[in-house]
Amino acid sequence: MNYKIAVLSGDGIGPEVVKEATQVLNQIAILYGFRVEYEEGLVGGASIDAYGKPLVDSVLKLAKESHAVLLGAMGGPKWDGLDYSIRPERALLALRQELGLFANLRPVKLFSALAPASTLRREVVEGTDLLVVRELTGGIYFGQPKGVTQLPDGTERGVNTEVYTTPEIERIAHVAFEAGRRRRKKVTSVDKANVLEATELWRKVVTRVHKENGYGDVQLEHMLVDNCAMQLIRDPKQFDVIVTTNMFGDILSDEAAMLTGSIGMLPSASLGGKVGMYEPVHGSAPDIAGKDLANPLATILTVGMMLRHSLDRGKAAERVERAVEGVLNEGYRTGDIQEEGCRLVGCREMGRLVREKIERIQG
Ligand SMILES: NC(=O)c1ccc[n+]([C@@H]2O[C@H](COP(=O)([O-])OP(=O)(O)OC[C@H]3O[C@@H](n4cnc5c(N)ncnc54)[C@H](O)[C@@H]3O)[C@@H](O)[C@H]2O)c1
Repeated sequence: MNYKIAVLSGDGIGPEVVKEATQVLNQIAILYGFRVEYEEGLVGGASIDAYGKPLVDSVLKLAKESHAVLLGAMGGPKWDGLDYSIRPERALLALRQELGLFANLRPVKLFSALAPASTLRREVVEGTDLLVVRELTGGIYFGQPKGVTQLPDGTERGVNTEVYTTPEIERIAHVAFEAGRRRRKKVTSVDKANVLEATELWRKVVTRVHKENGYGDVQLEHMLVDNCAMQLIRDPKQFDVIVTTNMFGDILSDEAAMLTGSIGMLPSASLGGKVGMYEPVHGSAPDIAGKDLANPLATILTVGMMLRHSLDRGKAAERVERAVEGVLNEGYRTGDIQEEGCRLVGCREMGRLVREKIERIQG
């Protein structure tokens, strides 16, 4: 099998971490007998510098014609002053919309060796292994009407609208139940049904999808978002899959991410259309860009997600995850997860160590 991967490295540390991740994918391809062909495109600030806008049609076309998209990160101080409509991060929103990526999957797994890096006590976080499924293309970030208007008395009025339709809720509920079925078979649907009518509908539809589609093997519970925010830091181990709206997912997934100690460890996948898009959760980290200081593990784990969700190579994905865990267990750390007594390494060396470990693991 021959897979075409669109590689959009972006800005800052993007190219450094993506390079390590593609080398891991090359190695996996050889080990598992398939071929990967990369085609690179400029996005974000790099695209603004070259073409005057963050995403050009040819790059969008490239993404649409690939099996999967591997994204680095976008943005940086150089482009901060630009109008919102042409900021680097616009490329991300455009890609999600154009590729129909309505489901964002963010696994939050604490590697035991990194428990000291969390701000919470070891006994609270150890064993945390959850998946946030966030609705990505609807809700209050896109709902109409929106905007700021002038009022006759000279004051202003700001409006955003939370909107969800039955089909939008149904399709994300299916993603969550399918994911739960492959994991520990529990889905927590998070809403604010006691106050917001749109999420009252959310609760009703999720319940119906569960009941009418044979998901009886997966346990469904409902939780209000304020309680969920609290439960995540009180007892994160109670969660398996959390499914929620765009805005609640945005906030809860960042909160959940911090359980693991570093943003440099977290992968993500955006799914729903023909092509999946895979990116680390972190940004372009301009403060450490070009210095071989970035942690490439989030992007390497992102390749693991691509193997699982777009290339149907679950065994290879597990091998990548086990290799990352193995390297951490041996005490190797990049600066962001540094601790006393560890062996401090740079981005390139961390990538090499993971590849060395992959070679030694039986697949
Ligand atoms: N998906 C994306 O492309 C994305 C996401 C978030 C932020 N951004 C953009 O990135 C730029 C910087 O944003 P920010 O500073 O708020 O967030 P950031 O994630 O880039 O950095 C936050 C902090 O974490 C550190 N960090 C992040 N990733 C790391 C890694 N892999 N290894 C080691 N340390 C790491 C950085 O050095 C920094 O101290 C902004 O322009 C922002 O808009 C882009």
